[in-house]
Amino acid sequence: MAALLVSKNVSPLMSLTIFVTLQMMVGVVSGRLLDKTKIHVMNNISEPLLVHGWFRNDHEVHRLLPGESHRYKFFKTPFLKMIWACTFEWKGAFHRYNIYDSRRDSCYEYNCYWQITKDGPCQIVHNYTEPLCFSWNY
Ligand SMILES: *[C@@H]1O[C@H](CO)[C@@H](O)[C@H](O)[C@H]1NC(C)=O
Ligand SMILES: *[C@@H]1O[C@H](CO)[C@@H](O)[C@H](O)[C@H]1NC(C)=O
Repeated sequence: MAALLVSKNVSPLMSLTIFVTLQMMVGVVSGRLLDKTKIHVMNNISEPLLVHGWFRNDHEVHRLLPGESHRYKFFKTPFLKMIWACTFEWKGAFHRYNIYDSRRDSCYEYNCYWQITKDGPCQIVHNYTEPLCFSWNY
């Protein structure tokens, strides 16, 4: 009887442990758990571009010459909405765009490629031959 009570108390915890372990194994096997999402941002305008990106308390400012890129790397948090907001500045212009939004972007193989033009950001989507261009949010 005592043994039965113990096993009854232990079992939910055991199941949880097994569940978590299996989840981690699946993650490791598929290589997904440890992968970071990478957002590549390229300056496609003909002058220096100042990119200021932030997520929660993390923020970075990068000055990109024409043709230069910067790569943001971070761990995606499953089930939580994540937005990486950016501002883009060059002579006489200031724009804002969310360069990453977990509900909008699928980022094939955990990579998102953006090319910044004067008219707006263009995303390179793996199954499209032409970039998908958007207008500035602001
Ligand atoms: C951005 O520049 C790259 C390299 O010059 C070019 O291949 C690409 O087509 C450009 N993209 C856009 C949207 O203009
Ligand atoms: C391209 O990928 C997007 C997003 O993954 C998907 O919605 C769309 O159906 C795909 N298009 C083609 C032609 O495969």
